[in-house]
Amino acid sequence: MIELKNISKSFNSHKVLDDLTLTIEKGQTKVIIGRSGCGKSVLLKHIVGLLKPDSGRVFIDGQEITNLKEKELDKFRMKIGMVFQGGALFDSMTVAENVGFGLIEHSRQIARKELLERTEEALCMVNLCGIQNLMPAELSGGMKKRVALARALCIRPEIILYDEPTTGVDPITADSINELIKSLHDKLKVTSIVVTHDMKSAYRVADTIAMLYQGKIIAEGSSEEIQNTSHPVVHQFINGLATGPITETLD
Ligand SMILES: Nc1ncnc2c1ncn2[C@@H]1O[C@H](COP(=O)(O)OP(=O)(O)O)[C@@H](O)[C@H]1O
Ligand SMILES: [Mg+2]
Repeated sequence: MIELKNISKSFNSHKVLDDLTLTIEKGQTKVIIGRSGCGKSVLLKHIVGLLKPDSGRVFIDGQEITNLKEKELDKFRMKIGMVFQGGALFDSMTVAENVGFGLIEHSRQIARKELLERTEEALCMVNLCGIQNLMPAELSGGMKKRVALARALCIRPEIILYDEPTTGVDPITADSINELIKSLHDKLKVTSIVVTHDMKSAYRVADTIAMLYQGKIIAEGSSEEIQNTSHPVVHQFINGLATGPITETLD
């Protein structure tokens, strides 16, 4: 369903993705782990065409999107719900306006009645029925994350990309977000990519886990395979060890 082939991307002289290849099968939940600043968000942005690779190709549903213009990309973006890091809600807009935002962007002709229905449907899916008229400032951190997810769901996506969905919330809230990711996956049969450095969350939601390090996927496997890895870099990362082969600081 999603294929990244030999993607390289540099900013100035800093190579963030280095000949990276990754495939995500239809209906799969793939978790991408890696340190802060290693290029996880950059990778996701290539899938929605927000960034273009310096070299390499991106395919969605077998169709190449690498060099599509904004207008042609819209057709693919209709299939993809992106839950941005930190939620990225507009503070001056109500919850309903935030949730409906993506849908209006994609289909400007949408009738008001349908917009209201779709907004409510999406909010109920994240267990926040009836909070349409609240402002983001009135929400807890966990609620903001769920509203951001409702915004992605509002377009009824086939693919959902989650950028650090549990970062910055307490462990109990994090667990309820993990549960939500899993139940949406089961209910909607979506293909998902979850980017995180929260290993508990990774094990919880993943069909397979891939680790990004120095611009490449250095290991890939089931939660169990990753937990039992003999790769020293993966071992150091998943166990949060200060000493090991990873020494450079990224941020
Ligand atoms: N638009 C950009 N312009 C310049 N540098 C960028 C840009 N986006 C990301 N980077 C750099 O790319 C690296 C990876 O960033 P990012 O993908 O955000 O990391 P993370 O794994 O934490 O999501 C960082 O060094 C970041 O500074
Ligand atoms: Mg990031």
